[in-house]
Amino acid sequence: MIELLFFFTSLILLGEHEHMESGILLVALIATFAAIHLSQAEDQEGFISLDCGLAPSEASPYIEPDTGLWFSSDSEFIQSGKIGKIDPSLPKTIKSYVTLRYFPDGIRNCYNLSVKQGTNYLMRFTALYGNYDGLNITPKFDLYVGPNFWVTIDLENKISGQSEEIIYIPRSNSLDLCLVKTGATTPMVSSVELRPLANDIYITESGSLKSFKRYYLTSSDTILSYPNDVKDRIWETKFDPEWMQISTTLEANNSNGFLVPQNVLKTAAIPANDTAPFNITEELDFPDDQIYLYLHFSEVQALPIGDFREFDIFWNGQQFDKTIRPEYLKTTTIKSTTPVTCKGGLCNLELIRTTNSILPPLLNAIELYTVVKFPQVETNENDVVAILKIKAQYGLNRITWQGDPCVPQNFLWDGLNCNNTDTSTPPIITYLNLTSNGLEGNIAAAIQNLTHLEKLDLSNNNLTGEVPEFLANMKSLMLINLSKNNLIGLIPQALLDREKEGLQLIVDGEHRCLSGSCVTEKKIPVKTVAFVSSATVMFAFKRKKSSSSKALPLSSIKLGEDVTSTNISEISIEMKRRKFTYSEVMKITKNLARPLGEGGFGVVYHGDINGSQQVAVKLLSQSSTQGYKEFKAEVELLLRVHHINLVSLVGYCDERGHLALIYEYMSNGDLKHHLSGKHDSSVLKWSTRLQIAIDAALGLEYLHIGCRPPMVHRDVKSTNILLGEGFTAKLADFGLSRSFQLGGEYHVSTVVAGTPGYLDPECYRTGRLAELSDVYSFGVVLLEIITNQDVVDQTREKSHIAEWTAFMLNRGDIAGIMDPNLHGDYNSHSAWRKKRPNMFQVVIELKECLTCEMSMKGNGQDMDSQSSPKVSISYDTTDLPSAR
Ligand SMILES: *[C@@H]1O[C@H](CO)[C@@H](O)[C@H](O)[C@H]1NC(C)=O
Ligand SMILES: *[C@@H]1O[C@H](CO)[C@@H](O)[C@H](O)[C@H]1NC(C)=O
Ligand SMILES: *[C@@H]1O[C@H](CO)[C@@H](O)[C@H](O)[C@H]1NC(C)=O
Ligand SMILES: *[C@@H]1O[C@H](CO)[C@@H](O)[C@H](O)[C@H]1NC(C)=O
Ligand SMILES: *[C@@H]1O[C@H](CO)[C@@H](O)[C@H](O)[C@H]1NC(C)=O
Ligand SMILES: *[C@@H]1O[C@H](CO)[C@@H](O)[C@H](O)[C@H]1NC(C)=O
Ligand SMILES: *[C@@H]1O[C@H](CO)[C@@H](O)[C@H](O)[C@H]1NC(C)=O
Ligand SMILES: *[C@@H]1O[C@H](CO)[C@@H](O)[C@H](O)[C@H]1NC(C)=O
Ligand SMILES: *[C@@H]1O[C@H](CO)[C@@H](O)[C@H](O)[C@H]1NC(C)=O
Ligand SMILES: *[C@@H]1O[C@H](CO)[C@@H](O)[C@H](O)[C@H]1NC(C)=O
Repeated sequence: MIELLFFFTSLILLGEHEHMESGILLVALIATFAAIHLSQAEDQEGFISLDCGLAPSEASPYIEPDTGLWFSSDSEFIQSGKIGKIDPSLPKTIKSYVTLRYFPDGIRNCYNLSVKQGTNYLMRFTALYGNYDGLNITPKFDLYVGPNFWVTIDLENKISGQSEEIIYIPRSNSLDLCLVKTGATTPMVSSVELRPLANDIYITESGSLKSFKRYYLTSSDTILSYPNDVKDRIWETKFDPEWMQISTTLEANNSNGFLVPQNVLKTAAIPANDTAPFNITEELDFPDDQIYLYLHFSEVQALPIGDFREFDIFWNGQQFDKTIRPEYLKTTTIKSTTPVTCKGGLCNLELIRTTNSILPPLLNAIELYTVVKFPQVETNENDVVAILKIKAQYGLNRITWQGDPCVPQNFLWDGLNCNNTDTSTPPIITYLNLTSNGLEGNIAAAIQNLTHLEKLDLSNNNLTGEVPEFLANMKSLMLINLSKNNLIGLIPQALLDREKEGLQLIVDGEHRCLSGSCVTEKKIPVKTVAFVSSATVMFAFKRKKSSSSKALPLSSIKLGEDVTSTNISEISIEMKRRKFTYSEVMKITKNLARPLGEGGFGVVYHGDINGSQQVAVKLLSQSSTQGYKEFKAEVELLLRVHHINLVSLVGYCDERGHLALIYEYMSNGDLKHHLSGKHDSSVLKWSTRLQIAIDAALGLEYLHIGCRPPMVHRDVKSTNILLGEGFTAKLADFGLSRSFQLGGEYHVSTVVAGTPGYLDPECYRTGRLAELSDVYSFGVVLLEIITNQDVVDQTREKSHIAEWTAFMLNRGDIAGIMDPNLHGDYNSHSAWRKKRPNMFQVVIELKECLTCEMSMKGNGQDMDSQSSPKVSISYDTTDLPSAR
């Protein structure tokens, strides 16, 4: 949990996401409010009430005092627009209309509302100009739902603003509500409200229902809405002099699905003249509109037995439904099943009492809806999801990238093209051009879900990583322009194959190689290390079953000049010359005054011989697991071998009960200590690390190849690599070393020696010893150098460093592999930045290595020698795996 928290904390702190912060704030505030206003919250379940232009830092959400509705800022739901406030000198209006959002930029600006797919929503849009800009120019603009035109908002002469309602069923979980500029004036909005309705009450054959009239018949002038109407429909009032009001104080049974408010059902109108028909006429704004009618009846008078009220309904002169007798205190709703048009735009309703009826007709409320055709289907949902992912990944905040990507055609997103030849089939994205957009990171994986893409232009960006294979699987692709990016690696073969089939692929680089990653450079130290560590990783994971072993290809190797060899009889002479007494040892160390550290087999002390030559004296403890045999082995070995990269033995002490080894003094301690940052908190530079690696490699190489008979160190690890002046590295601690037969393996014993984590698993299993187990250990050291990770860490996803590295590489997380300390180095020095892409080549190198291994199995070609002759001698990576 804490990690997660930290993760989020860092995301918030590091990311520049205004949204995210306000999101947190919102959540916190919602939590508070939720506790206080739980009951209202439950009532308003699914409601979306946006007070547009409300700064999220202002109390958002808040409870609107008149209605108890719970309004929040709209800032989460729109990426554009500016905030305004109506002229304060104007008469007081309801709170949610005071602030507003206006859109000076772009043609189409869209709200993205989170809705439930398939739910019937009553959506209300309100704009109140209120001279917010002091210009006194009322706006006129269009509203769209997704890709479809809904209504024109024209605020001229509308002092109290314009409210529009529609009943709409979203086709996905997000709903775009777009304001579209149609002239010189600036679109604006005061509030947006969505109310989920039952799905079976307002139904249309096609399109959506746009509210035209909704009123209840009363002589009062109380407009009803939430909380009177739990669905927050707004009920206006209407009364005619020819009518008479009848009413009740009793509540009616309104549970017929429509949930008509009680206050609507408590009053009704009847014709004042008992015998006259009940007549209502409404004039349409657009004479050709199709109309749906809803009539709500509830008897408000308790009729004496024998009395009844019965009438027929005529809608535009046609009998509408059957003869009706409203029930006492129980709602009956009569509704259209098909839309009608009204002659000349005049819609007429007549209620005519039947001849038997004792009482005149009655009516409580009317709703009239016009049909809005929404012919344009939205862009293919998969494409929308994919393009939104791409938009999010690259942080594309273009003003046109709002609303539906493809339609309407005139609001097509910049850089896209779509096939929308037929309005009844979802448009499909066929063209994506993001050239020169400053894109960073990898080529977005979501691109593969634009399955009908024909042209893809990602040129002239800062894209990094490899060219993904999935591009080859996109069957429609005819052109891919990836030029002018920082892509690396080889182009997938499958993509090259597609090229033969006519795909036009534009990338930079010679021989279809990106950023020179395939180019053989004279000296890329990083590459060398990558090669060797690749070999290590492969050792761990790509082991050959074969137990037959083959020596290193010695034939191709020439020894360095500083390498010498000593014969046995020389050794015995040497041994006498270098022997010290215990009292001499005490003198050298000034009675063990300055311990340098504790090795595996005893404490190491600082000393000096004759006040000039500094030495390190290892005093073997009595309890040491290193027996006399090991001690002798080390003495023998060190006296026999001389190499600049092996710690040299100055002398030794071999008295009963006192064994000591006197080494040359290594002023900079061991590699592990330096990597851990404990030494003097300075970070080893990359170039230094590399030099250390090469030094250690040369030392090991000498043991394997320069010595006769060859030696195996058997305990190569970072604590056994010591650093002298100028960070010259030398291998130390030869206590476990053994000689082995040239060209074969030396079967030591069933006891496996060495340090866990560095031990070649193969060696573990078979108990066999081979020089290659040193190579394995050295590879582990290289991984330490690169990653600065512990060799074995049980808390890591993969406890062993080699497994972990391979795991990270497989995930493509190369940055995550690198020693974070090095990373800092890169950032602070531009020289490093230049090198940094080379780090990414590790993966490529691995792949190349594998390919090489496959294709060159068994032939001793030295692939690496071109890149670094120095190291290639002992680390012929092409050969190592197959050698097993
Ligand atoms: C709209 O919002 C939904 C859910 O919040 C999100 O999944 C989607 O990506 C958003 N769409 C756009 C165009 O931002
Ligand atoms: C209200 O009317 C419905 C049918 O329209 C009926 O099922 C329900 O029982 C009635 N409720 C009451 C309280 O009478
Ligand atoms: C009432 O309506 C009937 C039929 O329309 C009409 O004949 C009669 O004159 C009306 N009575 C009054 C008082 O207006
Ligand atoms: C009702 O209205 C219609 C259309 O306006 C009209 O033709 C008719 O005469 C009216 N009826 C009465 C009784 O007012
Ligand atoms: C557009 O899609 C239709 C099928 O929906 C297809 O018949 C037509 O060829 C496509 N047009 C183009 C230009 O790709
Ligand atoms: C992408 O757009 C740029 C200009 O914005 C244009 O020059 C280039 O040709 C386009 N690419 C393709 C493949 O059409
Ligand atoms: C790549 O990024 C650098 C630095 O962030 C910037 O200066 C350069 O303009 C970018 N190049 C492109 C092609 O976007
Ligand atoms: C591609 O679409 C499929 C199905 O909608 C989805 O499961 C997958 O995650 C998408 N892939 C990417 C990379 O977005
Ligand atoms: C590919 O993109 C580069 C850089 O934007 C441009 O110079 C080149 O003309 C493009 N090639 C094609 C064939 O579109
Ligand atoms: C070993 O060294 C001794 C003394 O330097 C020398 O006489 C002898 O020939 C050497 N033997 C070999 C095999 O090199």
